[in-house]
Amino acid sequence: MGDSTTMGGYRRTPPAIRRLEDRLIPRGGAARLPVGCARVCVIAGTRPEVIKMAPVISALRARPEHFETIVVTTAQHREMLAQALDAFGLTPQVDLSLMSTRQSLADFTSRALLALSSCFGELRPDIVLVQGDTTTVLAASLAAYYLGIAVGHVEAGLRSGNLRNPFPEELNRRMAGAVAELHFAPTARARDNLIHEGVPGDRVFITGNTIVDALMQMPRRERFESDVLDGVPWHEQVVLVTVHRRENIGEPLHEICAAIREIVLLHPRVHVVFPVHLNPRVRDIVMPELASSERVLLTDPLSYGDLLEAVRRSVFVMTDSGGIQEECPSLRKPVLVLRQNTERPEVVTSGFGRVVGTDSPAIVATADRLLRYPDELRAMTTGENPFGRGDAGERIAMVLQAHMTSRAAASGQRSGGTASA
Ligand code: UD1
Repeated sequence: MGDSTTMGGYRRTPPAIRRLEDRLIPRGGAARLPVGCARVCVIAGTRPEVIKMAPVISALRARPEHFETIVVTTAQHREMLAQALDAFGLTPQVDLSLMSTRQSLADFTSRALLALSSCFGELRPDIVLVQGDTTTVLAASLAAYYLGIAVGHVEAGLRSGNLRNPFPEELNRRMAGAVAELHFAPTARARDNLIHEGVPGDRVFITGNTIVDALMQMPRRERFESDVLDGVPWHEQVVLVTVHRRENIGEPLHEICAAIREIVLLHPRVHVVFPVHLNPRVRDIVMPELASSERVLLTDPLSYGDLLEAVRRSVFVMTDSGGIQEECPSLRKPVLVLRQNTERPEVVTSGFGRVVGTDSPAIVATADRLLRYPDELRAMTTGENPFGRGDAGERIAMVLQAHMTSRAAASGQRSGGTASA
């Protein structure tokens, strides 16, 4: 993706330029999309958006007569995004390449809003699909809304009820929900949240979470891609840890690191594997706190396949990540949530997860019990996966197909002519 060209105020990869010239610019030009074929822009800025949109992209691309699917990335993250794109063999058609070092929220949001507006203005998609709650989602939803373009929100309806936690994700998903025409809710609870906020019921579809589809597409592996993981004594008790959320950066992250040191001290057979997020504010805390701790392995972010394999081989996981909270029930793995709350209460009600907060003694107490009492650990893995069966991408594509067909028919009737996308 390094070999990009700047055109029309934003950057595109060479294949995108070819496609834009050949086929992708029918809106103002002579060429037209076939009747009944809708142009869909799928937006991704960060690693989790790519992972969770991959099944949607593949379901849309399996219906070329109904959808022209254009993947647009803001590159809110660079390295971690590239890693996720690789895992699914995806190349974005439009790469806005917006990441800068130590970007602030206001800085990234304003640049993304401008770049996405010019991108959508040129491509004129029939619908923009966004996923989850990142700043990219906020900017893409707003840009589409200003241009009168429909928005479909994947993973809609998650709510913590606290605008400051997670910050700013709770606001981002509410904003996406406020402008979306279609809401793809992963669970019944997420649907109920939307209905409760006044979203019409016929605009909300329970689909399951696309993360289940994504992880089912990743084959199990004997060896890791990362050599350093092959050196981990997986036959001992390995605990996988990830932390990156903004509200945990600072004192909570110091507390989490102190808890990790204590757990390793209490349990000589325990090894911790901690892939450290590339956010420099996370690394500035974690590295000095844990670099010299015995049996704590700090690694760079893992490929998606390696991460899943590490979850499978761990005794349990401690994380503040939304995606990993969902992957754990799908892989039947206990998870301790390093946050004050979760917008995924299904992880707790299904028995797989416990919200332990970020105070060191509370984390140590729970981890200690699970490491001492295997029955208690096993009891956490007997529930049902609340996030679906792995057909969310297909369901989303089916709903979208029906919706775009009826919209095209309605606009054909209004103009008194033949429906065309
Ligand atoms: C973002 C999302 C969060 C998502 C997470 C997944 C927002 C507000 N938050 O959090 O919802 O769960 O991504 O990772 O959108 N950075 C690098 N290299 C990278 C990635 C990030 O240096 O590969 C730096 C950025 O330049 C920035 C910092 O890390 O300075 C934080 O990144 P940012 O995009 O603001 O949000 P995240 O905390 O990563």
